[in-house]
Amino acid sequence: MKLYCAKGYEQAGRITANILAAQIIMKPDSVLGLATGSTPVSAYEHLIRRYEAGDLDFSSVHSINLDEYRGLNPENDQSYRYFMNTHLFNHINIDKKNTFVPDGMEADAEKACQDYDEIIRSHGGIDLQLLGLGHNGHIGFNEPGDAFARTTHLVTLAESTVLANARFFASATDVPKQAYTMDIGSIMQARKILVMACGESKKEIIRKAFYGPITPQVPASVLQLHPDVTLVGDEAALI
Ligand code: GLP
Repeated sequence: MKLYCAKGYEQAGRITANILAAQIIMKPDSVLGLATGSTPVSAYEHLIRRYEAGDLDFSSVHSINLDEYRGLNPENDQSYRYFMNTHLFNHINIDKKNTFVPDGMEADAEKACQDYDEIIRSHGGIDLQLLGLGHNGHIGFNEPGDAFARTTHLVTLAESTVLANARFFASATDVPKQAYTMDIGSIMQARKILVMACGESKKEIIRKAFYGPITPQVPASVLQLHPDVTLVGDEAALI
């Protein structure tokens, strides 16, 4: 594993953006696996600045996001599609037709998941997968469980995840209780993995995920088996 310890959140975002930018420059038609949550926001801001400076071209990039709340439509400002549009896609020259987020409005879970797996498959998998880290070790919305998931699936969110994500909603009761998420298998098949985790609150889970036993009870621990993982954190999270 490659490890970058940034001075703080802002610098961690810059380093993460640098790595994403390098990927796009070296392979302009990269398939990027993208993530939501508060952590990658500064990385996306840096990418936008680099695009505005004329250093990056997203016109051939495809993106496949990790997850989406079930029941939220793309116009809902809490949906992950809305998040991606407002934090990144609206500000760069990516073709929105080349950006994919699970269809939260598809009530037929089997169809929603099969369609998404087909999107991942038809793109030849993911070149670089960006990940945040849930406090319970979830990646995407792959919650702790008895086995590592092998296909896109419908998850019932852990209570701790609902509570953690309540900060984005009016109250915890407004947080959707289910989501569609890319599976651990697809994440592990990404050619490169880039994890960004910052702040004191992520310190314990980073230790468990990267230095503890590999177990589906800590989904991110599976990343120890991936041959090309980069972890970008800040001093509060890493030291
Ligand atoms: C959500 C997302 C994850 C994200 C996690 C951590 O649950 N589904 O992809 O990594 O939150 O969020 P944050 O970066 O805000 O700590």
